[in-house]
Amino acid sequence: MFVFTKKSDLKAHLDQIKTAKAKIGFVPTMGALHQGHLSLMKESLKNNAITVVSIFVNPTQFNNAEDLEKYPRTLDNDVAKIETLSKEILIYAPSVDDIYEGNTNSASFDYDGLEFQMEGAHRPGHFDGVGTVVKKLFEIVQPTNAYFGEKDFQQLQIIKKMVQKHKMPVSIHGCPIHREPNGLAMSSRNERLSAEAREKAAIIYKILKNTKSKFEKHSAQEVVAYVENEFKKHADFQLEYFEIADEATLLPCKRKSKTKHYRGFIAVFINNVRLIDNISLN
Ligand code: PAJ
Repeated sequence: MFVFTKKSDLKAHLDQIKTAKAKIGFVPTMGALHQGHLSLMKESLKNNAITVVSIFVNPTQFNNAEDLEKYPRTLDNDVAKIETLSKEILIYAPSVDDIYEGNTNSASFDYDGLEFQMEGAHRPGHFDGVGTVVKKLFEIVQPTNAYFGEKDFQQLQIIKKMVQKHKMPVSIHGCPIHREPNGLAMSSRNERLSAEAREKAAIIYKILKNTKSKFEKHSAQEVVAYVENEFKKHADFQLEYFEIADEATLLPCKRKSKTKHYRGFIAVFINNVRLIDNISLN
């Protein structure tokens, strides 16, 4: 396995092995890998001659110091998991300095308003941090294709917007949400849940599935009220938001339109761990 910690070494290696026609697939991650991450890598392996995976806990996208500190760092384990897919995958696991060169400030991005909704409203600066690191990573790896999960649907839309606005020569691919057998969306943060909380958290996807059938007959406002009410019955959970939004603009749905695609988006705390999930509604 190749594990690079310096961008200069990764770039030199890529220069050596890439040919004019060889497609480079890229999967950026923050590590603590699970099947959701691996599914993105499988997609990249299928469609590209070279696959690069980055493992970097990006400080500029954390608006909460404790969350950054507690984020799991499990490089050896991650490398072993990647190896089960292919020994050819190139891993880039840099230090903060290799990426930021002493300046850990975010650039500021205009994503046409996508950044003001949901996660953006609740995590100030988060998407500037994501844009900053993904842009730097794209410049280093120069991928043909890059793979992002629908688990972070708002992030996926924001990256598409960034690429379009900055005319970056990379295609962005969204991949479906991988779930635990009980329906809980896989997340590195699930590791911080107690076994009991992890079981209870199955209710999040159960409620999301109910919103899908309810949205056929009810207004967005009624479905939102249903979710808020359900979580009031479960004292272990603190609902931060549930919103039904237009997939393209991420603006909340006021009146349903037949020509638009909607998703339900949720952020909820259990066990002091913040979980997010979403579901396509039509
Ligand atoms: P991270 O949370 O590690 O996620 C890396 C990629 O895996 C993201 O595209 C995310 O949407 C995807 N992913 C996570 N859980 C998933 C699941 N259950 N099913 C499918 N895909 C899943 O997202 C980030 O890191 C960072 O913001 C990053 C883009 C790396 C920038 O720092």
